[in-house]
Amino acid sequence: PKPVILDGDPGLDDAVAWMLALASPDEVQVLGVCSVHGNVPLERTSHNAGVILALTGEAGRSVPHYAGADRPLVREAVTAAAVHGDSGLPAADLPAPLRPPEPLHAALYMIEAIRAQPSEITLIATGPLTNVALAFRLAPDLAAKVREVVWMGGSTAHGNRTPAAEFNALADPHAAHVVLTSGAPVRMVGLNLTMQSIATPDRLDNLRALDNRAGAVCAEFLTFYAGHYRARYGLNGGALHDPVAVAAVIRPDLFTFQPMRVQVETQDGLNFGRTVCDLYGQSGPEDHVQVGTQLNEPAFFALLLERIGRLP
Ligand code: BDR
Ligand code: CA
Repeated sequence: PKPVILDGDPGLDDAVAWMLALASPDEVQVLGVCSVHGNVPLERTSHNAGVILALTGEAGRSVPHYAGADRPLVREAVTAAAVHGDSGLPAADLPAPLRPPEPLHAALYMIEAIRAQPSEITLIATGPLTNVALAFRLAPDLAAKVREVVWMGGSTAHGNRTPAAEFNALADPHAAHVVLTSGAPVRMVGLNLTMQSIATPDRLDNLRALDNRAGAVCAEFLTFYAGHYRARYGLNGGALHDPVAVAAVIRPDLFTFQPMRVQVETQDGLNFGRTVCDLYGQSGPEDHVQVGTQLNEPAFFALLLERIGRLP
C-alpha cells in the first residue's frame, strides 16, 4: 500500500473521504491525519478528526492526529458552515473523539514523516492548503521529497464559494500558490470532476442498506449535505468532492488526468482564489499540474459503497 497522510477540514465530505481511505488498507496505509481550518474553525475540525477515527474502529485506532493552522496565511478566515453545519459534522449520536490531537503541529509532523520516507508519501489534501504550505516553507527540501500532493480544490471552470473560486482555493489562495509553485508533483481534483459525483437518494439508500454504523452515519452526513446542493444548485444530492480525491489515489485507473499549468489568483477582486487552468498550453510549461478531467463515476461510487461496507 502507498503511505499517505490525510490533511483536511472535516467537514461532511472530508469525513466520508477519510473513512474511504481508512477502509482501504490494501491500497493506502494512513500514517496520520491532519486537521486545518476551513469548513469550520480548527477547534471543530480537530474534534471531528478524532470523531472520524473513532467511527472507523480498528482501522483508525492507532492512527495519530495532528492539528495544524487555525487560519489562512494572509487573508481572513472563511468558513462553510452553511454547507457543513456549525459543528462540521451534524449528526446524532456520534462517538466521542478517540483521543486529543498529538502535541506536534501538523506542518511539523508532515516534515518529519516525509523526511523519514523520502519519495514515498502521498499527501491527500481535502481542505485549504495552509498546513502543506507551512510545511513547504519551513522545509524547502520537502517538495522534492513528497511523492505527490493530491488536492481536492480549484476547478478548470467556475467556482462554488464565489462564481470564480472553489472553496478550498478561496479559503487560502496564498497557500495554494505556495504549493502549486513548489515544484512538488501535484494532482488536482477540482469541481469540474467532483460536481459530477452526486450522492443521490438511491445512493444514500445503498449506504443505509449496508447495515453497519459507518453506512448509516455517511447517509446521515450526506442527507444534511444534500440540503445545500438542492437549494443552491438544484442537484439531486450533495457532490462527493473529497472522497473523489481519495479515490484518485486508490483507483487512479478510474480517472483521466491532463497536465496543465495552474495558477491561482491571489489579488483581491472578482477572481480572488480562482485557479486559472491553462487547458490549451498558452502560458508555457512551468508548474505543470496533473488536472483531473474525467472520472468513471459509477465505478467510483461502487468503490465507495464497498469500502464503507467494510467498516463497523
Ligand atoms: C470543498 O469545500 C469544502 O466545503 C468541501 O469539504 C470540499 O473540500 C469543495 O469545494
Ligand atoms: Ca474539505
